[in-house]
Amino acid sequence: MNDPYVQSAEYMDLLIADAWGLFAPGLSEALRGLGGETGVTVDLGAGTGRGVAVICASLPDDSPVLAVEPSPALRAVLLARAHEDERLSSRVTVSSADALGVPLPDRVRALVAMNMIGHLSPGDRHELWRRIVPRLVRGGCVVVNLAPPTRPAGVPRSRMASRSVGDLTYEGWASAEAVGEQQIRWHLTYLTRSSEGSTVSEVAVDYDWWVMNEAELRDELAEHGLTTRQIGHPDASLYVATRLQN
Ligand SMILES: C[S@@+](CC[C@H](N)C(=O)[O-])C[C@H]1O[C@@H](n2cnc3c(N)ncnc32)[C@H](O)[C@@H]1O
Repeated sequence: MNDPYVQSAEYMDLLIADAWGLFAPGLSEALRGLGGETGVTVDLGAGTGRGVAVICASLPDDSPVLAVEPSPALRAVLLARAHEDERLSSRVTVSSADALGVPLPDRVRALVAMNMIGHLSPGDRHELWRRIVPRLVRGGCVVVNLAPPTRPAGVPRSRMASRSVGDLTYEGWASAEAVGEQQIRWHLTYLTRSSEGSTVSEVAVDYDWWVMNEAELRDELAEHGLTTRQIGHPDASLYVATRLQN
């Protein structure tokens, strides 16, 4: 894996915290709406584990979670979060595999893919849905968000997030340009500033991201027998997909 998070890992948990305030209620609603069937909830690209914590809080205490995180630096934060809290350590298994390499459980209660689907090409997504759908238990679902932009377009540079810890403030800045018909290239800069505003450290990271809109997501999942609806706060652009026959 070419890990785009190797340099920015120290910033990720801090700077995604506010966004999770928006995502958590919708993800929780989707998971609480599942039927009573047992199965594993798979958090794909679990990052630092904020989604894992929401999953564990939303499902019964004995529901197992498979947190799939290929980036070693992010996985270190994920493992720290999982082992520190008994409600997580007893049920969260952390895998270092990636989306297509991970051996999937036979019975999947939910597949959660938050803030990560743009890392997968259309071909990889089809392969993922092809593998997941037959494993979904009755009432099981796929939960995915579509981060803007949802079409290949430029994004002017702006500050995405900022958090202070002690005397230092951590900031993430982003811009993007279209590359081809289905991708954008993110240009991300992460800064650590002193209380006087001077830059203590700075890293720049670029990576490509596959974009799609809601209609494309619906069509793609429908090809695999899933029906999709939006859930949670409209700004979260969060979708839950279930099997048509459920
Ligand atoms: C923006 S982070 C989001 C992390 C987490 N889901 C969250 O919302 O807090 C994207 C995550 O996707 C992971 N990722 C990238 N490519 C992946 C792949 N092919 N399979 C699984 N995860 C992948 C990254 O390592 C990273 O943890």
